Amino acid sequence: MCGIVAYIGPKDAAPILLEGLQRLEYRGYDSAGLVVNNKGLKVRKVKGRVADLAGAVPARFKGGLGIGHTRWATHGVPNDVNAHPHLDTKERIAVVHNGIIENADELRAKLIADGAVFVSETDTEVLAHLIARTVQDTGSLEEAVRKALKSVVGTYGIAVVDAERGSEIVVARNGSPIVIGIGEKEMFCASDVAALVRYTRQVVHLEDGELAVLKADGFHTFTMDARATSKEPLTVDWDAGHYDTGGYEHYLLKEISDQPESVARTLRGRLDDRFHIAHLGGLNLDPRETRAFRRVKIIGCGSAYYAGQIGAQLIEELARIPADAEPASEFRYRSPVVEHDTLYVAVSQSGETYDTLAAVQELKRKGGRVLGVVNAVGSAIAREVDGGVYLHAGPEVSVASTKAFTSTAVAFALIALHFGRVRDLSPSDGRRIADGLRRLPEQIERIVEQGDAIAALARKYAPHPGMMFVGRVRGYPVAREGAQKLKEISYVHAEAYPASELKHGPLALIGPDMPTVAVVPDDELLDKNLTTLGEIRARGGKVLMIGHREPDAKLAEDVIVVPKNEVELDPILLGIPLQLFAYHAAVALERDVDKPRNLAKSVTVE
Ligand code: AGP
Repeated sequence: MCGIVAYIGPKDAAPILLEGLQRLEYRGYDSAGLVVNNKGLKVRKVKGRVADLAGAVPARFKGGLGIGHTRWATHGVPNDVNAHPHLDTKERIAVVHNGIIENADELRAKLIADGAVFVSETDTEVLAHLIARTVQDTGSLEEAVRKALKSVVGTYGIAVVDAERGSEIVVARNGSPIVIGIGEKEMFCASDVAALVRYTRQVVHLEDGELAVLKADGFHTFTMDARATSKEPLTVDWDAGHYDTGGYEHYLLKEISDQPESVARTLRGRLDDRFHIAHLGGLNLDPRETRAFRRVKIIGCGSAYYAGQIGAQLIEELARIPADAEPASEFRYRSPVVEHDTLYVAVSQSGETYDTLAAVQELKRKGGRVLGVVNAVGSAIAREVDGGVYLHAGPEVSVASTKAFTSTAVAFALIALHFGRVRDLSPSDGRRIADGLRRLPEQIERIVEQGDAIAALARKYAPHPGMMFVGRVRGYPVAREGAQKLKEISYVHAEAYPASELKHGPLALIGPDMPTVAVVPDDELLDKNLTTLGEIRARGGKVLMIGHREPDAKLAEDVIVVPKNEVELDPILLGIPLQLFAYHAAVALERDVDKPRNLAKSVTVE
């Protein structure tokens, strides 16, 4: 997804913008550009990497005010011209933009009729021409941006500079994140805190419909109707080191290996020894309210949705509240019936996924009570919900989610324990689950230590054209996430099915070229799962089993044995070898592991 960086202060802007853009590379992009204002706009933009842009920026690019961008093409192919910033005809205004202007074609036609000369195919360029039109009349960049945005339909995070106003940058947000970073007599801005943490940890998030003027010595925020708003800065508890690979070959391997610590952080201070309950003050629910809910509906996209499926299973088992999960991207469009006695839970690592945010807004509009399970502190979804649980997993840079997925499942175990103990879960079962949660970090460590053996298996299976992933009940969301990881980073086709559904259709695919990865926990469904393995083997299919014990050699060609926890918590551990399997398969196939093709870390557009 696109990224924005802006700087105003006493230093040269260009190196700061380039460093910030490099920090945003993980989000996925195809071109990059920047503009510095020093008695006129100096622009460089290139198709390709930030390193190519750095090579194209001459040393003479001096000036303490600038904005930069990484573009992920939506309107127009990736090339130098379509890269941002975009300028008006007289090259007075420069704009960088994340999001989509839906009425760009209509605005473009009017502006052309008015004499504007367009050079790119982008929707963004209309913003530069619109702003330029008003700034000529009023001289106020702030007012010109407000006026221009009033005629725009769509989503945006923007940063704007005016060649004739060398001491300010105007930024605005509607559906696409903008974070202001507060420095010492210097101000920063970005679409993601990752670009800011090297310089400051004091940040302010803009709300939708909010704008800000940044000057070197401060900023002010206001609404589209020019009403001033007041903002409290937040302190980000992540530093630049969290965004390095830390000696690992890829961010993904670092993040998988970090899970003993990230899970410990998710649990820290949340387990009560006396009542065997989870302390989750951020839920903002008193015991009566907790008892009154008759249903839990979990929404999220991609891996967040699969983690939500694990969460639904945990809540239903431990708290005995009917619970299910649904893709937020579907939920928001099907005019859902919102019930007052249903608790809605939105799941998002980034807290910025547009589909999930839109689903939350739809729920809130209909009076639904919505909790968030979110990693990024202060993100849009975290601000929108009525309460929730932060993961504290630390920043996740690799496009494929791993540690946030695991921490989400752990957060749901905490929520399920909390709800269960407020409702009918016995103290002894509460203690059993709390003790099981405490064992997780050490057990994850033991799985990560099996990395070399899992890598050998990944090399063996990676050359197959496709793989089937199966699991039953608790194992099914684990299988879905395992297939998702494999396909998104290795591009090997992977299908996930409930093991129980295999003989209703997909068994036809099974044969020597279609191995099966089977998630087989040691639970009450073990025998049924082993029968399924027998059916696969009888059709000549290879089986890689992920489970708690070695089965009969006839049933599985290969096995990864995972430490056993409580049956309810086992899915959390069973997913981790599948992350390592996907990682090593992608490495074996020489894929761009951290930046898989066509994908972005945070999907902030529809
Ligand atoms: C994860 O590996 C995927 N890249 C993707 O499915 C992701 O989980 C999804 O886009 C949701 O992101 P979020 O958690 O930031 O909302």
